[in-house]
Amino acid sequence: MTATLYRATFLHTPENPFTHAEALHAESDGGLLVEGGVIRARGAFADLRAAHPDAPVTDLRGGLLLPGFVDTHVHLPQVRVIGGLGLPLLDWLDQCALPEEARMADVAYARGVARDFIGGLLGAGTTTALVFGSHFAGAVDAFFEEAAQAGLRAVTGLVVSDRLLRDELHTTPERAYAEGKALIERWHEVGRALYAVTPRFSLSASEGILDACAALMREHPGVRFTSHINENTREIEVVRELFPGARDYLDTYERAGLIGRHSVLAHNVHPSDRELGVMAAARCTAAHCPCSNSALGSGFFPLRRHLDAGVPVSLGSDVGGGTGFSLLKEGLQAHFMQNLMPGGVPLSPAHLLYLATKAGADALDLPEVGAFEPGQQFDAVHLAPAPGTPLDAVFRHAASPERALAAAFATGTPGDVARVWIGGEPALTRA
Ligand code: GUN
Ligand code: ZN
Repeated sequence: MTATLYRATFLHTPENPFTHAEALHAESDGGLLVEGGVIRARGAFADLRAAHPDAPVTDLRGGLLLPGFVDTHVHLPQVRVIGGLGLPLLDWLDQCALPEEARMADVAYARGVARDFIGGLLGAGTTTALVFGSHFAGAVDAFFEEAAQAGLRAVTGLVVSDRLLRDELHTTPERAYAEGKALIERWHEVGRALYAVTPRFSLSASEGILDACAALMREHPGVRFTSHINENTREIEVVRELFPGARDYLDTYERAGLIGRHSVLAHNVHPSDRELGVMAAARCTAAHCPCSNSALGSGFFPLRRHLDAGVPVSLGSDVGGGTGFSLLKEGLQAHFMQNLMPGGVPLSPAHLLYLATKAGADALDLPEVGAFEPGQQFDAVHLAPAPGTPLDAVFRHAASPERALAAAFATGTPGDVARVWIGGEPALTRA
């Protein structure tokens, strides 16, 4: 097998900058030796060149090479309804999201949506995603097929609900279990795919359907779990009324046995201290979705409280409550919101890169991705802004790779994503 030597300015965060000083690693003229999709060596280009004089070189100078982004909360059936601004969560669901989600009953329609969606992810430099799937098993199946075809690392599953949405989107605990089991058997750990058990949120899930979810988790160790939590104050009130015996929102999942190392809960804008303590002890991740929290007026994510409690935090675009697929934009919005809120956490470029890459890989328990360590998969995004654009000017004149990284978060868009690799295979090459 021939090895390829990638020459680039690259940055990555193999360590957590919230707990480690100097977590940002950068090489201005760096080299990554990749063989069979795996990073075999990393260092200064000159050193790697001397050690591997025959390896063909892919020259990526002039941009930034980063680990592929990991989006830990993004909705498949919402790619065509991004941008329904101005509504709070429950109204937005009724008016924007759910009518479109009902269209996913048609598998041909769902396949077109899956292609649009995967194009959006790859176009933004996302190589791994925890995807909120569809309420229809045929649509989830079509998405797994399309994701395999594109080479995407997809963690997804059937979304299940049995109340308070629309009739077409409701199922029963028995059907949720049977369809989930069939999808797990067909797709979990097949190629790059993993299955995620996915009740939509406790508002739309009876105890019976949460128990069916827990049965799937028990019977298939290794499947992931995802749902929503503590996003909107009205939503939280309704959940409290629906589960009078529960201590809080988390408890609705916790007492069903759904909270653990493989659980990722989106939003958590309004948590109690008890909930944070339980999430930390269980190593359950909160997926922070700052553009969505802003667009739906959900509130300011209490990052400081999550960090102080020891809850792992990752980043999600929450398309289509969020405003697009770019985790650069999510990083910037997180930075803005933390700057603006009392007690917010100042976020450096290292924090933003970590949240967009390694934190997501850790949330999904995927040690093989998220950074550029030898032995990891070569999942990478090459940011190469068009000549003459402001970001190109910053890249050419930046005092350090870290300054260039800050500018990538400040002004970068999917238009700056030139190339994407997953497991060493090209997943996107800008025309
Ligand atoms: N809670 C339940 N469903 C959804 C959804 O589709 N988007 C968001 N942001 N929150 C939810
Ligand atoms: Zn969501």
